[in-house]
Amino acid sequence: MEMDASVLAPLVALFLASFFLVLRKHRSSPPDDRRHQQLPPGSFGLPVIGQTLSFLSALRGNTGEAWLRQWAAVYGPVSRFSFFGVRTALIVGPSANKFLFSSAGLTAKTTTAMNRMVGRRNIRELTGNNHRHVRAMFVQFLKLDVVRGYVGAIDDEVRHHLSANWHGHATIAVMPSMKTLTFDIMCTVIFGLDRGAHAAMRRDLSMEFQQLVRGVWSIPVNLPFTTFRKCLAASQRGRHTVAKIIDEKRRKLERGESSSSNDLMTHMLAEGMADDDIIDNIMFMILAAHDTTATLLTFLIRHLDSNKDAYAKVIAEQEEVARSKARGEALSWDDLGKMRYTWAAAMETLRMVPPIFGNFKRVVEDVEFNGHLIPKGWQVMTAMNLTQWDPAIFPDPGRFDPTRFESPLPPYSFVAFGGGGRVCPGNEFARVEALVAMHYIITGFRWKLADGCDGSFSRYPLPSPAQGLLIDIEPKDTTTSP
Ligand code: HEM
Repeated sequence: MEMDASVLAPLVALFLASFFLVLRKHRSSPPDDRRHQQLPPGSFGLPVIGQTLSFLSALRGNTGEAWLRQWAAVYGPVSRFSFFGVRTALIVGPSANKFLFSSAGLTAKTTTAMNRMVGRRNIRELTGNNHRHVRAMFVQFLKLDVVRGYVGAIDDEVRHHLSANWHGHATIAVMPSMKTLTFDIMCTVIFGLDRGAHAAMRRDLSMEFQQLVRGVWSIPVNLPFTTFRKCLAASQRGRHTVAKIIDEKRRKLERGESSSSNDLMTHMLAEGMADDDIIDNIMFMILAAHDTTATLLTFLIRHLDSNKDAYAKVIAEQEEVARSKARGEALSWDDLGKMRYTWAAAMETLRMVPPIFGNFKRVVEDVEFNGHLIPKGWQVMTAMNLTQWDPAIFPDPGRFDPTRFESPLPPYSFVAFGGGGRVCPGNEFARVEALVAMHYIITGFRWKLADGCDGSFSRYPLPSPAQGLLIDIEPKDTTTSP
């Protein structure tokens, strides 16, 4: 297994420090035999390290799903392992997804590293009324009726992006381009930071988040050469920029130049939320919103390149919409309703390459699943691909087939956006972004993978294509120019 030095040294220190603590704890609390027998089968491996390194290495090599499948094949649909020092129950199948989304004994969580970078008061860590209160603020800006109103602004950002970054170029690295695009859309539409006056703030934030996202699944050891330390520093700079934006918004609110409905940050201020809480939640939102949709767009472009039938159908659908518009006229909400096949292709992409690999929940009280006890203090994990690549649910799962989404799917089988009370509140926003962007990419350009780009990818934690997915492009006409 490959392991870089920045991982190994802090890990050894962490291992030695924790080894004795774990030993002492185990000696002072002998397991209750009956409870012990009810625990899921499996192994926690070495103290603290557990299976962390082997699983992380599999993820980097894009064999994380195979790793989990193999584990489940050996130990069954409910098993135990240890990840980042946390005792983990791995559960598999649609009923496992249902349990994860609905059990009262489980609550959402982020990784320790992400918590330290984003801040502990982020929506993902909140429970009960605190969660409901903050979620309602997010939903205020992400619900269907409101998202309808964003189509024009998203259209403008997409056209501006393609005009500035695609026209005049022969080769594009898709992933970085889509990250910039989705970041800019979020800044304009949700944070009210326009392209002109806030250009520098947008650039600073975007740079810090490119670094920060690399640390989400890092080992949280703050030593000079660790990934975690670099990401922590980026998060401090990011927080500083968000704090400056909040100050600016507060002044406008106090002068009566804005109101609670202007944008998410102003709304949070008007609701009396403390600055640190706003920063934690905005940091989380930036992470949750832009790389996920950028991943969807990147892999949709990749899949269409290698599935010519689907590509032709998407072109036909988009060109029909384009023919119904005057030259330069922006897309409308009704136009998006005509893009059914394109959205099915996007969902098929989310099925095959879900941006979020797994869903983790903290066990807040003992729970039971399939006759196994999962004690308080553990975490429960499922991975999207365990159902989304199950041939019993999606026959021939390696085949890209958007028509799978033309009829209803078995419940809890397609879970790229999660489910239950925590289901992604940004799913409609992501749909609008993806459809508008694909419209202008499809009607504006032809593309094919560049020579030497094989479309392979690794995952850490989001899927990341080799070379950012290089494509050769050729403009079709000038409809994407502003
Ligand atoms: C293709 C794009 C996206 C995917 C695949 C995705 C996926 C997810 C998943 C799997 C969860 C966890 C759900 C659960 O625990 O059951 C989540 C949560 C969340 N997502 Fe998304 N997401 C996407 C885009 C967005 C966008 C565009 C936004 C905001 C504009 C957003 C905001 C959030 C927030 C705030 C949460 C936390 C919800 C809570 O804990 O109550 N996401 N997302």
